[in-house]
Amino acid sequence: MRILVLGNGGREHAIAWKLSQSHICEKLFIAPGNAGTAMVGENIDINIIDFQQVGSFCINNKIDLVFVGPEEPLVKGIADYFYSDERLNNILFIGPSAKGAMLEGSKDFAKQFMQRNNIPTAAYKSFSKGQYEEAIMFLESLKPPYVLKADGLAAGKGVVISQSLDEAKQSLFEMLELEKFGQASSTVVIEEFLDGIEVSVFVLTDGENYKILPSAKDYKRIGENDTGPNTGGMGAISPVPFVDQAFMNKVEERIIKPTVSGLKSESIKYCGFLFIGLMNVKGDPYVIEYNVRLGDPETEVVLPRIMSDFASLLRSAALNKLDEESLIICQEFAVTVMLVSGGYPGDYRKGIPIHNIEKVTGSNLFYAGIKQKDGNLVTNGGRVLAITSVDNSMANALNRSFANAETIDYEGKYYRKDIGKDLQ
Ligand code: AMP
Ligand code: GLY
Repeated sequence: MRILVLGNGGREHAIAWKLSQSHICEKLFIAPGNAGTAMVGENIDINIIDFQQVGSFCINNKIDLVFVGPEEPLVKGIADYFYSDERLNNILFIGPSAKGAMLEGSKDFAKQFMQRNNIPTAAYKSFSKGQYEEAIMFLESLKPPYVLKADGLAAGKGVVISQSLDEAKQSLFEMLELEKFGQASSTVVIEEFLDGIEVSVFVLTDGENYKILPSAKDYKRIGENDTGPNTGGMGAISPVPFVDQAFMNKVEERIIKPTVSGLKSESIKYCGFLFIGLMNVKGDPYVIEYNVRLGDPETEVVLPRIMSDFASLLRSAALNKLDEESLIICQEFAVTVMLVSGGYPGDYRKGIPIHNIEKVTGSNLFYAGIKQKDGNLVTNGGRVLAITSVDNSMANALNRSFANAETIDYEGKYYRKDIGKDLQ
């Protein structure tokens, strides 16, 4: 198969790396890709939000399968664009329709979907511009902590949790009245606080059948012991030791099955990955959020544990034949430590030379923000590099990733040294 992957992060490097190992992958393109994806496939300089450009590339290069990494093109309808064009609708496509992508693109839509399908989630109410007074009254009726969410995509920054009512009111004012997140916060979801431990579960579905991928936990905050602002993710671990079979059975029965059957019964076309952010509240799972793609950096620990042919899984999913595949998972631990730029998630510099990458041993490197400049590797983003190690002991895997994190060098390098500490 000739495969095109859309995206340019560590997630897409891991996806491309996995696909490049498949014996049915004949040729692999990544658009736009990065210096890491260029080592396992051919980077193509196209704008992935320009669907016409993506479509023309696929026709001209006889692409058999398209895999969309990030959410933005999905929310903007790239799957529908392919399905509705007769020159493109025979191409196998991994990624949901725009309606399906609303599970991530609109928190209010996701909440209503969960309610309709009896899927456990925090109690909530939504308020739009013009309902500010009502929203304030609702906040006053709740107990702290207060959870406020911008309805639309807000680059991972749209959730505010406050301990004080005044702070919550201030955030509500900024979101609804000052349009802090633009259109994304013209509706705000206010929901019950769930007290528990977070875990992410990934599902691949063809719209009818599904496969449950390994569980993973990511580390969102910039500082050790989960302090400081949120980031795209500073590390990840898979599997999550406290996720046992009894919990996973509840997740499958109460969440995965009703989600997949709800999509089908509501005629929402969904062939692709679903990332379910869960809270384990005293042994019971509740959905915090849906994402309509794989997580980053969770992908960097989940994919190395998949032993089955990944391209074959994707092909079967796109052909509605996922039930014919078996998913084989390696029983070892995978851990990822993310190296980031000094200053991230605030302002940071780009173009800083990276040294000693060639000295890394025993880990896989997935490039996030790295590019080639005059024959050297330089930083090109906030998250720079994911260092993944796999071992039958989590401690050994972590030691290898931390040792390699020390070896690699660039000005301003930062990483969390406590990844996995809470799970050991
Ligand atoms: P989200 O963007 O929906 O994943 O939310 C970002 C983070 O906020 C989550 O990873 C949780 O840590 C936290 N969060 C979101 N909703 C809730 C909730 N209802 N109760 C407690 N924590 C929450
Ligand atoms: N690691 C969280 C995300 O990909 O959204």
